[in-house]
Amino acid sequence: MFSSLCKTRRSSSVTKRRDSPHSILRWLSNVMENTVYGGPKPQNPSHRVTLTNIRQKHRRGEPITMVTAYDYPSAVHLDTAGIDVCLVGDSASMVVHGHDTTLPITLDEMLVHCRAVARGAKRPLLVGDLPFGTYESNTQQAVDTAVRVLKEGGMDAIKLEGGAPSRITAAKGIVEAGIAVIGHVGLTPQAISVLGGFRPQGRNIDSAVRVVETSMALQEAGCFAVVLECVPPPVAAAATSALQIPTIGIGAGPFCSGQVSISFLHFYRKALLAFFLKSYRGWMGSCVDRHSVVLVRPDKLLLLAMPRVLVYHDLLGMLQHPHHAKVTPKFCKHYAHVGEAINKALSEYRDEVASGAFPGAAHSPYKIGAADTEGFLQLLEKLGLSEAASAAADAASKMEAQMK
Ligand code: KIV
Repeated sequence: MFSSLCKTRRSSSVTKRRDSPHSILRWLSNVMENTVYGGPKPQNPSHRVTLTNIRQKHRRGEPITMVTAYDYPSAVHLDTAGIDVCLVGDSASMVVHGHDTTLPITLDEMLVHCRAVARGAKRPLLVGDLPFGTYESNTQQAVDTAVRVLKEGGMDAIKLEGGAPSRITAAKGIVEAGIAVIGHVGLTPQAISVLGGFRPQGRNIDSAVRVVETSMALQEAGCFAVVLECVPPPVAAAATSALQIPTIGIGAGPFCSGQVSISFLHFYRKALLAFFLKSYRGWMGSCVDRHSVVLVRPDKLLLLAMPRVLVYHDLLGMLQHPHHAKVTPKFCKHYAHVGEAINKALSEYRDEVASGAFPGAAHSPYKIGAADTEGFLQLLEKLGLSEAASAAADAASKMEAQMK
């Protein structure tokens, strides 16, 4: 029956087309194409950001933006905003799944997030985090996990945490397998067990030197960038200066990036200042360095830095996780208060449903003509469903009244 259905369909008007497994799947699928359910179209699908673009940006001294995304809608938003790198971070464990740490999330869960993000973000370089417990045992395990993140998750690259010799070897093995890798040093949340909690790193001589040396070892292993998390700005500046690859900071201050040529620096600084002055009308300002500006008003002085990598929910002010109630990381700037807007919208929705105000006629778009309504009511009566008939009649007149 199933195969004869396929045969019949193949012998119809599309017989001449060669059938790829994908097209057969499409026939058998109930997913609609080009309908109102298709969702927004991501920007520039043909211009995927590549490692070459990242390297070029770094060489030109342009800041690289990286933001986390965990699902289709957040990925579409990042794509539309022109973010360079989209990280499917294991922070999903906390901000999406509500765990206290990043440790519980599994590879299978991460792959679901990766696939959803890959459907929504067509332009940014896609990086998938290797979750805790899936790469520490040996290099083979790390390579196998990285391969799954690319093959099954649709990512372009992976990120792994830590700088122990075994991690450096794993990073090298993954790069040798043909997979681009971002390293991650400083506060590495998967290691809170040995770090003794979510603690900034690089705050004494030993630890600061370790951040720099580990970053260099990751570069040597073939990583194309290193995330520096929660380290003091001078430590980030030292690592940035010691490396040829970009550093991407989170809570690491403004000095995370590559070299800028002197002639370019002038134009870049002007553009940077203009970027900030757009949102701070009436302020005067000047550039401190290639990532930060100081803005002044008679009563206030502000030091603002270009963002590097931020967690989606922190950036947008979606602060529902219990951790956020206790502490919002000091380095987080909220560019919006989306959480408040969501709460307000949900309460209004609840109230309107409770009062019967929603859905009204304006949001009940599917019509049945007057003649059909009449015939329908008569048939209901004939079937002995007179209560249903009067409910339908009542509904029809209410909708009509609302539309007037
Ligand atoms: O998982 C994550 O979101 C991260 C970033 C914060 C760098 O690792």
